[in-house]
Amino acid sequence: MLLVLLVRLADGSGRCDGRVEVKHQNRWGTVCRFNWDQKDAAVVCKQLGCGSVISAARSKRFVLGSGPIWMDYVGCRGTESALSDCTHRGWGKHYCIHEYDVGVTCTGFVRLVGGDNRCSGRVEINDRDGWKSVCDSHFGAKAADVVCRDLQCGRALSVTRASPSGEGTGPIWDRELQCVGNESTLSSCPMGTPKDQPCTQTSTAAVSCTQFTGFRLVNGSTACMGRVEVEVQGTWGTLCASRWDLLDAHVLCHHLGCGFAVSVPEGGQFGRGTGPVWGDSFHCEGTESSLDQCPVTALGASPCSHENNAAVICSGAEPLPGEILQCAFVAFLLSPGSRQVRLVDGAGRCAGRVEIYYRGQWGTVCDDAWDTADANVVCRQLSCGWAVEAAGSAHFGEGSGHIWLDGVNCSGDETALWNCSAEAWGQHDCGHKEDAGVVCSEFMALRLENSDGCSGRLQVFYNGTWGSVCSNSMTPHTAKLVCKELGCGDGGTREISIFYGRVNGTAWLDHVQCGESNSSFWQCPSDPWELQSCVPQFHELHRWELLLCVTSGPVTLVPWEVTASADREKIRAVGGKDGCSGRVEVWHRGSWGTVCDDSWDMQDAEVACRQLGCGPAVSALAEAAFGEGTGPIWLEQVECRGTEPSLQACWARTGDGGACRHKEDAAVNCLGEWLGLLRLYSRSSISVPVIICIILGLLICLLLALLASSAVETAPGKA
Ligand SMILES: *[C@@H]1O[C@H](CO)[C@@H](O)[C@H](O)[C@H]1NC(C)=O
Ligand SMILES: *[C@@H]1O[C@H](CO)[C@@H](O)[C@H](O)[C@H]1NC(C)=O
Ligand SMILES: *[C@@H]1O[C@H](CO)[C@@H](O)[C@H](O)[C@H]1NC(C)=O
Ligand SMILES: *[C@@H]1O[C@H](CO)[C@@H](O)[C@H](O)[C@H]1NC(C)=O
Ligand SMILES: *[C@@H]1O[C@H](CO)[C@@H](O)[C@H](O)[C@H]1NC(C)=O
Ligand SMILES: *[C@@H]1O[C@H](CO)[C@@H](O)[C@H](O)[C@H]1NC(C)=O
Ligand SMILES: *[C@@H]1O[C@H](CO)[C@@H](O)[C@H](O)[C@H]1NC(C)=O
Repeated sequence: MLLVLLVRLADGSGRCDGRVEVKHQNRWGTVCRFNWDQKDAAVVCKQLGCGSVISAARSKRFVLGSGPIWMDYVGCRGTESALSDCTHRGWGKHYCIHEYDVGVTCTGFVRLVGGDNRCSGRVEINDRDGWKSVCDSHFGAKAADVVCRDLQCGRALSVTRASPSGEGTGPIWDRELQCVGNESTLSSCPMGTPKDQPCTQTSTAAVSCTQFTGFRLVNGSTACMGRVEVEVQGTWGTLCASRWDLLDAHVLCHHLGCGFAVSVPEGGQFGRGTGPVWGDSFHCEGTESSLDQCPVTALGASPCSHENNAAVICSGAEPLPGEILQCAFVAFLLSPGSRQVRLVDGAGRCAGRVEIYYRGQWGTVCDDAWDTADANVVCRQLSCGWAVEAAGSAHFGEGSGHIWLDGVNCSGDETALWNCSAEAWGQHDCGHKEDAGVVCSEFMALRLENSDGCSGRLQVFYNGTWGSVCSNSMTPHTAKLVCKELGCGDGGTREISIFYGRVNGTAWLDHVQCGESNSSFWQCPSDPWELQSCVPQFHELHRWELLLCVTSGPVTLVPWEVTASADREKIRAVGGKDGCSGRVEVWHRGSWGTVCDDSWDMQDAEVACRQLGCGPAVSALAEAAFGEGTGPIWLEQVECRGTEPSLQACWARTGDGGACRHKEDAAVNCLGEWLGLLRLYSRSSISVPVIICIILGLLICLLLALLASSAVETAPGKA
C-alpha cells in the first residue's frame, strides 16, 4: 500500500536529507530542535523509507524554513511508525524560531554504486547492518523502476546482471523485491522472506536510470505555452531548438496535461534561459506518453546558445482522455487543407522515399527534374539539415497510391515542398518506379569495417560521408553500445592491437564518451561533427583501435529497439482472422520471428494490440494458442509497462539464449480496429477510422470554439 507521507526532508541533497517538515491542516511546517535526538530522527528516516540515521542535526547546508512551526519538544521512543505518533507540545504550540528548525540526514534505503553517476550502478540496499548488493534473480524491471523513482532519477532504462566474478560486492541482501512497479519508494515494495526463494545466483543487479527527471514550460502567458526547460538529475536547463519539432512538442504538451501541440515558435518569443543548454535532441513519434520515452541523440552535437531555445504553444485544452487527445492532434495535423511531408523506408527519419500528405492521403513525388535544390527543401522542412543526395528511380522502394507532385522545380529557399513550382497536384506522367527520395545531412548510420559486420574499425555516416571515429578518451562502454546498435550482441570490447597509419579521408568524431546510462550509441556525448576531428591534431599519424563484438557477454535487459531501430513498428498477428488476433510475430534483421510466452502478460498484449492498430487487448495467450510459428524466436522475455508505443520499445531479452521452443509462442486477442487510430498518422493510406477521427477532432475543436465565443459574447454583454 502507498502511504500519503505527511513528513518530508526539504532543501537537502535528496529525498533522504534535509530540513524536517510535517504537514498539518494542509500546510507544511517545521519542527523545533528542543528535545530532538537520534530516536526522533530514526522515526523520520523509517517513515520515509530512507534507512537509518546518519545525522540528527540540521546541517548548515539547509536553508531556514518559513511558515508554521508545527512541532516542538518531540519525544519518540523510536518504535513509532510516524513522527505524528510521537509526543510533542501540541500542533503549532512552541517556544521556537526557525533558526532552531531540525534537519535529518538518513542513509537512504537504496543507492547505486560504481556507475557514472548517482543514477546508475550496482544496486545496494541498507538493511540496518550496512550496505548489501542485491541478488540478480531477485530483481526485475519493476523493481528497477521503483529504484529510479526512489532516487529521483526518473525512469529505469536498463537492468544489468553484474558479472559474477570480481567487483568485490561484499554481502548479498537475500530477500526478494516483489514490487508492483508503481510504489514511490523501494522500501514500500513487498518483500519475500529469505527462505521463500534463496538466491541461486552469485551475480548482482545493476540499474541505469534516465537522465531526464523533469519537464516544464516557463515564461508563457499561460501554463501551456513557453520555453521548454528540462531537468537533468536535479539541474534545470533549456533545450536546444535545432531539432525540436511538432511531434516532440506534442508529447510534451500531452505529458503536461496541456492538450496537443499547435506550434513550435522560433527565436526568443519566451525570453532567454539562463543555466545550461542541453544539446540532446528528442525524436518522438507523437504517441509516447513522455519525452523521456523518445529516442535521444547527443552524438556530435554542436554547442547551442540561449538564442536557440526550444519552445512550444500547446492547445491548452482541458486534459482530454488519451485517445481523444491523440485524435484531436491527428485531426489538427491532417485537417482538410493540411499538408505534411515525410521520408519512408530509409532506416531513419532523415532518409527515404518522399511522401506528401494531401487531401487526406499520402502520396509520392515523381523524380522528373528532381534535384538537390528540391531535396534541400524537404530536408529543411523535416529539421534534417540539407540534402546530400537527391535519389530517383524508387531508390527507397516503390510507394503506392497517388503520385502527388511531378516536375518539382524549387529555387531552394522555399519553406515547404509545395511552395515550389510544379505540375498541378496529382498531374503527372509517372509510375511509382520513378518515386523520388532524399538522403539528408542529418541521416546517421554506423558500421564496423570487417565483412562479418561485427568487428573492425568503427565508421559513422554523417553529412553524406562515411568517416572514422578517433579513439581519444573513448570510454569502454562505447564498444558495447556499438555492438548492440549493430545487432551484434551485448558484449563489445576494444582490441588492444594498435597500429599507426595515415588517416584516410574523413574522421568524424572524437572523444566519444558513452556512459552506463546511455541506452544507444547516438546518446553518447562527443566532440562536434568535424571532417578531421582527431585531437590532438596529428593528421598524419593516428592510433586506431579495433572494436570486437563478443556475443557471449553478460546478459542485458534493455529496450529492444536499441538493437532494432531499423525494424521499428514491424509486427503482425498470424493465424487469427482480421489481423487483430493471432500469434505475435516481429520483424528483425530481415525476417519474421516469434515471441516466447515467458512472462507474456496483458501489459505486453496491450502494447502489441496498440501497435497492430487493433485497440485494447482482450487476452494475452500462451503455448502457441494460434499454432506454432517457424523461424527464429526473436524475443525470449518481454516486459512492457503497457504504455509503450511498440513492442520494440519494451524491455526484452533477445532470443539468442535458446531457452524457448515454438510450442511456447505468444499470441494476442485484440478488441478490433477502431481504437487503432493513434497509429494511423504514420500509415500510408487513409481509412474509415481516420475520417471518424477527423470528424471527432473537428467536433471537439468546434465545441471548444463555441464555448470560447459564448464566453466572449456573454462577458461584454453583461458589462
Ligand atoms: C498500484 O498497482 C496496483 C495493482 O496494479 C493497484 O491495485 C494500486 O492501486 C496501484 N497503486 C497506485 C497508487 O496507483
Ligand atoms: C520572458 O519573456 C520576455 C519577452 O517576451 C522577456 O522580456 C523576459 O525577460 C522573459 N523572462 C524570463 C524570466 O525569461
Ligand atoms: C525552374 O524555374 C526557373 C525559374 O524559377 C526556370 O528558369 C527554369 O527553367 C525552371 N526549370 C525547369 C526544368 O522547369
Ligand atoms: C508557402 O505557401 C503557403 C500556402 O500554401 C503560404 O502561406 C506561404 O506564405 C508560402 N511561403 C513561401 C515562402 O512562399
Ligand atoms: C557537410 O557538407 C557540406 C557540403 O556538402 C559542407 O559545407 C559542410 O561544412 C559539411 N558539414 C560538416 C559538419 O562537415
Ligand atoms: C590508407 O590508404 C592506403 C592506400 O589506399 C592503405 O594502404 C592504408 O592501409 C590506408 N590506411 C588506413 C589506416 O586505412
Ligand atoms: C549519456 O552518458 C553521458 C556520460 O555518462 C551522460 O552525461 C549523458 O547524460 C547520458 N545521456 C543520456 C541521454 O542518458
